[in-house]
Amino acid sequence: MERQVVILDHPLIQHKLRFLRDENTGTKEFRNLVSEIAMLIVYEATRSLPLFDVKVKTPCGIADCKVISGRKLAFVPILRAGTGMLDGALALVPAAKVGHIGLYRNEENMQPVEYYCKLPADIEERDVFVMDPMLATGGSAINAISQIKKRNPKSIKFMCIIAAPEGLKALTEYHKDVDVYCAGLDDHLNEHGYIVPGLGDAGDRIFGTK
Ligand code: PRP
Ligand code: URA
Repeated sequence: MERQVVILDHPLIQHKLRFLRDENTGTKEFRNLVSEIAMLIVYEATRSLPLFDVKVKTPCGIADCKVISGRKLAFVPILRAGTGMLDGALALVPAAKVGHIGLYRNEENMQPVEYYCKLPADIEERDVFVMDPMLATGGSAINAISQIKKRNPKSIKFMCIIAAPEGLKALTEYHKDVDVYCAGLDDHLNEHGYIVPGLGDAGDRIFGTK
């Protein structure tokens, strides 16, 4: 199947994104919005999960129903900001296992610096959803996905809230087999590697560290 790059134009997501971007949105509301948008992205990113047929006895008869066919999922947020998306994702798929990858950007050269990696032991049996609100240069997402690929998962999808064209191009060229789901595709990166117009520093806004 051909790789997908999905820009989610659903009105609910676009409406929430308007408030997320606003510099006047405070930490509590920002955190809630990240979680809600993540939930809506997971809804879309799980659209192709395979189903099988079951029959269910209702009070009035027998219904032909469908259930998800035993696929095992893993959510992997990129620390720090990716953890803001985790609650929303787990609200929809509570049985998913969770891994963590710790990366931060070196402020001078924008390169990702690795500091943590803990993935589910059975990750080779799982479909992995990597999450990070921001895809800027793409360096962090590319690095995280490369680390996960060494463990041979069944598949990898990447979910972000805002992407810069530069990061989307870099990621899709480097990892040609990874589907990408994104709520907003912005204009460009500024000279500090921040997405314009973007929303500022996602980690600082989620955790109130600035
Ligand atoms: C932010 C963001 C991504 C990364 C994106 O993290 O959450 O992980 O930058 O930039 P890139 O596409 O150019 O790699 P940051 O390095 O600020 O760390 P934090 O989440 O700990 O704040
Ligand atoms: N990381 C962020 O948090 N925001 C950006 O705009 C770019 C990288």
